[in-house]
Amino acid sequence: MPARDRFDRPLRSLRISVTDRCNLRCQYCMPEEEYVWLPRRDILTFEEIGALVDAFTAAGADRVRLTGGEPLLRKDLPDLIQRLANKPAVRDLALTTNGMLLADQAGGLRDAGLHRLTVSLDTLRADRFRELTRFDGVAAVQRGLDSARTAGFTDLKIDTVVIRGVNDDELVDLLAYGRQAGAEVRFIEYMDVGGATRWSVKDVLSRAEMLRMIGAALGPVAAIEEESSAPADRFRLPDGQTFGIISSTTEPFCRSCDRSRLTADGLWFRCLYAREGTDLRGPLRAGASRAELTRMIGEIWTARTDRGAEVRLATGNREPFIPVETLQKKPHLEMHTRGG
Ligand code: GTP
Ligand code: 5AD
Ligand code: SF4
Repeated sequence: MPARDRFDRPLRSLRISVTDRCNLRCQYCMPEEEYVWLPRRDILTFEEIGALVDAFTAAGADRVRLTGGEPLLRKDLPDLIQRLANKPAVRDLALTTNGMLLADQAGGLRDAGLHRLTVSLDTLRADRFRELTRFDGVAAVQRGLDSARTAGFTDLKIDTVVIRGVNDDELVDLLAYGRQAGAEVRFIEYMDVGGATRWSVKDVLSRAEMLRMIGAALGPVAAIEEESSAPADRFRLPDGQTFGIISSTTEPFCRSCDRSRLTADGLWFRCLYAREGTDLRGPLRAGASRAELTRMIGEIWTARTDRGAEVRLATGNREPFIPVETLQKKPHLEMHTRGG
């Protein structure tokens, strides 16, 4: 039985950041020139990640998602995937990538036993991609998606962060591309998370606006009724194509949030917006047993009251969550450190 928190939410989904490094500089996540990186000696080995996953599954977790930074930058990643895929308690094993290195790696990820893949893609236009990320990459990401499909990933998703005046004119084009690429597109409201130092409420295109725009272009949009703890609400277009919207900013889903995150250096956060995490690397390296770690994880989860996105929504006058100067001193508050 999974541990349950103070709001009766089970501990189910663990997001593990395998590196804080990234090969893009998305303007909603890493807009600054300089970043402070985690020291290499602190980065968990695959063996250590495996040991922590065992402790988490014993406390109830059954879904693992690997994130970054950009997870495909982590050397020998398929070895970690194989290690985790071999654990029967991990019923779902997924990865979120920016797709830049996917064309070469998709086959290896599949062979290693990865179940599901989500690729971030915010624009189909080469010039816009460069403005948004500081690199050229649309073609590489599209090749990555093709390779993923060829490699046999049938549950592909495309994550698109929508920013007003930046890519809000591409919703329909992205849906058409998703259909062709065999991927379900999910539009994500721009969030005021750590790292989003240029965030402004004016730049948020709400879920309601997205639905209006898509409906006006493609006809009536029907909500799909389903019980799920996933952040995306799903919809169906008249031609049967489905898509999702993640409305963490205007309609947060904290009430059903069963996820937590482990940073590449072993700090455990129970909320995307949490300021403090729990160091699990220390006890692990000091020789704590699996049972001790599981007990610690269970006790901490049982006391959990986080509902960060709802608290942010209730804050009337919203500014970026964490000032740049603080982020430079505390890189664990960055979105790219705690996993997107
Ligand atoms: P599945 O439910 O396993 O399909 O995965 P997912 O949708 O959680 O995975 P993904 O990495 O694609 O997450 C999509 C986006 O949802 C993220 O990039 C975030 O923008 C948002 N998101 C993920 N986790 C959280 C969270 O804990 N809180 C909030 N408010 N938003 C989140
Ligand atoms: N708002 C919304 N989503 C974000 N991500 C990173 N920063 C933000 C933000 N400010 C998410 C995106 C991206 C993933 C890696 O992290 O979904 O695709
Ligand atoms: Fe972009 Fe993801 Fe890298 Fe952040 S971690 S800069 S969202 S690709």
